[in-house]
Amino acid sequence: MSVQQKVINFSPGPAKLPAEVLKIAQNELIHYANTGISIMEMSHRSQEFEAIVKNVQNLLRELIGIPDNYSILLMHGSGTGQFAALPMNLVSQFMDGSVVDYIVTGAWSDKTLKEAQKYVSNVNRVTPKQTAYVEIPERNQWKLDANAKYFFYTDNETIHGIEFPYIPEGLPNVPLVADMTSNFLTRPIDIKKYGAIVAGTQKNCGIAGLGIAIVRKDLIGKAMSVCPSIMDYKIMDDNNSLYNTPPVYSIYMCGLFLQWIKDNGGLEAMAKRSTERCQLIYDIIDNSNDFYYSPINPNSRSRVNIPFRVGGKSGDTDLEKRFVDEAKAKGMIQLKGHRSVGGIRASLFNAMTVEETQVLRQFMIDFQKTYKK
Ligand SMILES: Cc1ncc(COP(=O)(O)O)c(C=O)c1O
Repeated sequence: MSVQQKVINFSPGPAKLPAEVLKIAQNELIHYANTGISIMEMSHRSQEFEAIVKNVQNLLRELIGIPDNYSILLMHGSGTGQFAALPMNLVSQFMDGSVVDYIVTGAWSDKTLKEAQKYVSNVNRVTPKQTAYVEIPERNQWKLDANAKYFFYTDNETIHGIEFPYIPEGLPNVPLVADMTSNFLTRPIDIKKYGAIVAGTQKNCGIAGLGIAIVRKDLIGKAMSVCPSIMDYKIMDDNNSLYNTPPVYSIYMCGLFLQWIKDNGGLEAMAKRSTERCQLIYDIIDNSNDFYYSPINPNSRSRVNIPFRVGGKSGDTDLEKRFVDEAKAKGMIQLKGHRSVGGIRASLFNAMTVEETQVLRQFMIDFQKTYKK
């Protein structure tokens, strides 16, 4: 039995990879194809590596159904790099009075908004500051600006466990832009609704270091003059994402993971698995008489990150520590909640199986039986 099978890794990222993907990577580690060298030693200008880039782009196009009027850019800097790249590419002048709309539904969108403030004079927070992130504010409370250069939202808040169950409706002619780092490829994506989608790959489709930007072509080519070349969508597009030395191994691993998604039924199948997994856990939380407690409004609950308290609504920190320790002793790791939220967080990304989630579910049932007062 491999280490992968003994330990169930609920990490929020870098996250679990499918065992099949790791196995292929292992087999190809020292000698890739017939090259006699590893990917990590190979020129990014080689035919072999160009084929790896093309493969990632083709698989993304096929899995999502991306039409030709969108470019697929493989960028440095992961998700956070895109927090800066978005305003620098979609607003053409630095601090020129332009407006951009941001809806803040948790820690990540808050961080994204703050990054945009470095480059754009008027970053409009479309809903009032919340004291606690527990739900997506109602649409009729959003104060969108008709002149905004784009409308940004975070599709899934990894720390707070809040996910949009729908595509937010913005104003006409304002491109919709989403950070999908933590739920990318966990369900079908209606790409035509978007101006741009960005995501780091280390949770649902690869390892750390790679940022994917899928950008509608008419939005490319307007970057601010201060925009670094490696963040400039036009420069990256013109150079097929090979402007400089890219994160070669991350791109390769992404290709393996995308192939695994395709082999396992594509995005419809990922969505089905995702729903099954999260229901297994929410079901226990909701039927625990508040022994387990999720503060998130059920209509905004994340399918992939489930933060919850143990031992009552405010959580019993001793019991939560015990939960993490006992789970670890049974091979379930990385269940501790984010330091800003506390409690427990189970992250259930693409590589997590329903069977592994069943193990956590059973552990939760047993733990409650043992410790319920
Ligand atoms: C929703 C979301 N966006 C962006 C990021 C930032 O990704 P990175 O740390 O790879 O830059 C994260 C990281 O966890 C995230 O969860």
